[in-house]
Amino acid sequence: MHKITIAIDGFSSTGKSTVAKRLAKALGYVYVDSGAMYRAVTFYAMQNGLIEKDCFDKEQLIEQLDNIQISFKFNADLGFAEVYLNGQNIEKNIRTLEVSQFVSQVATVSKVREQLVLQQQNFGKHKGVVMDGRDIGTVVFTDAELKLFMTASAEKRAKRRYDELIERGDDVSFEAVLNNVQSRDHIDSTREDSPLTMAEDAIKVDNSNLTLDEQFEFIFKLSEDKIQSLYKKNDSAY
Ligand code: DC
Repeated sequence: MHKITIAIDGFSSTGKSTVAKRLAKALGYVYVDSGAMYRAVTFYAMQNGLIEKDCFDKEQLIEQLDNIQISFKFNADLGFAEVYLNGQNIEKNIRTLEVSQFVSQVATVSKVREQLVLQQQNFGKHKGVVMDGRDIGTVVFTDAELKLFMTASAEKRAKRRYDELIERGDDVSFEAVLNNVQSRDHIDSTREDSPLTMAEDAIKVDNSNLTLDEQFEFIFKLSEDKIQSLYKKNDSAY
């Protein structure tokens, strides 16, 4: 059976990772959360005093990039791969509002992007990968056979993220989460290097009014159709 590359981009908190994980599982593909990699670099910078309140020491972070080893290890109980920074599981540490507040700034640094993009391309070199992020269809895998672009209103996205944080026991207000979603949208779409834009050949999925199941069914069908069409095309060539 043909394996393809599936790129899922879109605004923050559009549920990209939820659907990407489920899709990868259903297809027997590897799932890679590229946002977790930017979050891991951000967490490293916070731990090492390179980011504090209004101060971000970009130059020092660039100098220390070689000290940052990011890897993923599959957790069978959770059913997805967790992110590790220099051998330490940081899956929970990177999902805080604090990391979310700084990550977009870190993601503007071209040297950081260069390194992470190379690693992401390496993860996907044998295809059979579902990767989500902001520049997967436009930069990382421009030749992905299936590209999706997820959107939903800022309020819907903030509500989803707020519910998640509250469920984890974090003490946050809805306004703070909404502000964070809107400010990340702005930074992600206006940065100079690899801004968030929809690839010309991407399919737009507005999930404001879709349930998780409806969204999954729609995307799963698109993937199956794409795989089958390529399979048939190649068959007839022989
Ligand atoms: O998907 P996420 O919210 O975990 O991503 C965190 C941040 O990382 C997001 O604000 C933008 C950045 N990012 C990026 O610039 N490129 C990617 N491919 C993935 C994430």
